[in-house]
Amino acid sequence: MDSFVNIALPKGRLGEKVYGMFERAGYECAEIKEQNRKLIFESKENGVRYFWVKPSDVAIYVERGAADIGVAGKDILLEYEPDVFELLDLGVGKCRMAVAAPSGYRDNRSKTLTVATKFSKIASDYYKSRGRSIDVIHLNGSIEIAPLLGLSDVIVDIVETGATLRENNLEVIEEIVDISARLISNKASYRFKGDKIDEITGRMREAIK
Ligand code: PRP
Repeated sequence: MDSFVNIALPKGRLGEKVYGMFERAGYECAEIKEQNRKLIFESKENGVRYFWVKPSDVAIYVERGAADIGVAGKDILLEYEPDVFELLDLGVGKCRMAVAAPSGYRDNRSKTLTVATKFSKIASDYYKSRGRSIDVIHLNGSIEIAPLLGLSDVIVDIVETGATLRENNLEVIEEIVDISARLISNKASYRFKGDKIDEITGRMREAIK
């Protein structure tokens, strides 16, 4: 069996921050800092191998065991419910999942609500729990434009600074859940490499204090 712990990191700004946490926790990988297009890096002395993958794909790599552990947003975990262990809230990548609508929007409860979102399951679960029937319109990005063009009444999306909403005359009308980045583990890997994964989790916990 591969003795390295294979770690899937989300490509981008959040991933770089998260790599910094791994580094502070003692799992440095010198060559990762060299700016190039390489996607796999390993440190023999620290026993870790890092992969950069699309943030929304991290949970797939971990669920299928291509990576032993990884860092995924709680939004992805709620939406896709991958069969993984959630080990630690890293306290970064903080944002909110919220319902937003054009300023001054008034809900008409006698009509089916149309909701545009990338997060169809989160939106459906939320409105189901409130007994409201909705028509979900699944989009892949630029969700904010949907109510502006009359494609939907409201959106369910991630709000970080709120700038995208403000600049498009939208406002949060309901908060659904707080989101942050989580350290996750493949279930079989946790059985076979549990000592090392526990060590990494423990040191990461210390590193974020
Ligand atoms: C996310 C989200 C919002 C924006 C929120 O979009 O879908 O559009 O960030 O951030 P803010 O509150 O700081 O403005 P992302 O950049 O992932 O692009 P996409 O959804 O359009 O693909």
